[in-house]
Amino acid sequence: MDRYGALTARTYDLLSGEPVYAVGRHLGIRALGLSPGQRVLDVGCGTGLNLPLLLREVGPSGHVVGVDRSAAMLDAARRKAAPPGPADGSGGGTVRLVQGDMADEGVLRAAAGGQPFDAVVATYALSLAPDPSRVWRALTTVLAPGAGVAVVDMARPTGIAAWAAPLARLACWLGGADIDAHAWTVVQPELEAARSWSRRGGHVRVVVGTWR
Ligand SMILES: C[S@@+](CC[C@H](N)C(=O)[O-])C[C@H]1O[C@@H](n2cnc3c(N)ncnc32)[C@H](O)[C@@H]1O
Repeated sequence: MDRYGALTARTYDLLSGEPVYAVGRHLGIRALGLSPGQRVLDVGCGTGLNLPLLLREVGPSGHVVGVDRSAAMLDAARRKAAPPGPADGSGGGTVRLVQGDMADEGVLRAAAGGQPFDAVVATYALSLAPDPSRVWRALTTVLAPGAGVAVVDMARPTGIAAWAAPLARLACWLGGADIDAHAWTVVQPELEAARSWSRRGGHVRVVVGTWR
C-alpha cells in the first residue's frame, strides 16, 4: 500500500513539518536562479508545495511539470495549480501533473513532451527511491545541457542538534524516506559549480548546480 494515499494527501501540508522543511525548498529553488519562461520539472512533487514558488520564478510564460506516483498527492497538487488569482503572486505559468514513477524514463519523457527541461527540483523525494542513481540517470534523459538541478533532502542532525536525531529519524520513517540515503551524493559529482547548504542542524541538505 502506498503510504501517500488519501489520508496523507489531506493532512500532508499540515503535518509534514513545513516549519522545519520549508527552508530547504525555498533555498534550493532560489539558488536555481530560474528565469521567466523556463520549463521546470518537480519530481516527487507531492501535494505541490513547490508549485507556487516555481511559478513565481518562471512567470506567466513558464511551465512547471510535477511528477508523482500518488494520485491522491497529485489531486492535492492540482488544487494549488488552479489558475492563480491576481493577488497570489504565482505569476500564471502553466502546470502539468503526471502520475508515474520518477525512475521510469518513459514517464519522464512523457512529462517532458518532447522538450527538455531547463531545471529539475527534487525536494524530500529522492530519499524515498530504492535506487536514487536510477532516478538520476532517467532525469538526465530529459534535461537540457546546462540545466539547473536542485536536490533537497534529509540527513541525521549532528553537533548540538544531535538531540533531535530520534525525531528526525521518526519523521523520515513515517514518510518512507531513508535518512541515510544521502541521495544528493549521487547527483553532486555530476554537477558543475555545485553549491551545498546544511540547515536545521544538518537535517536539511541542499545541493544546487548545473548539469554539464
Ligand atoms: C515526502 S513527499 C515530498 C513531496 C514534495 N516534494 C515536498 O517537498 O513536499 C515524497 C513524495 O514522493 C513521491 N514518490 C515517492 N517515490 C516516488 C517515485 N518512485 N516516483 C514518483 N513519486 C514518488 C511520494 O508519492 C510523495 O508524494
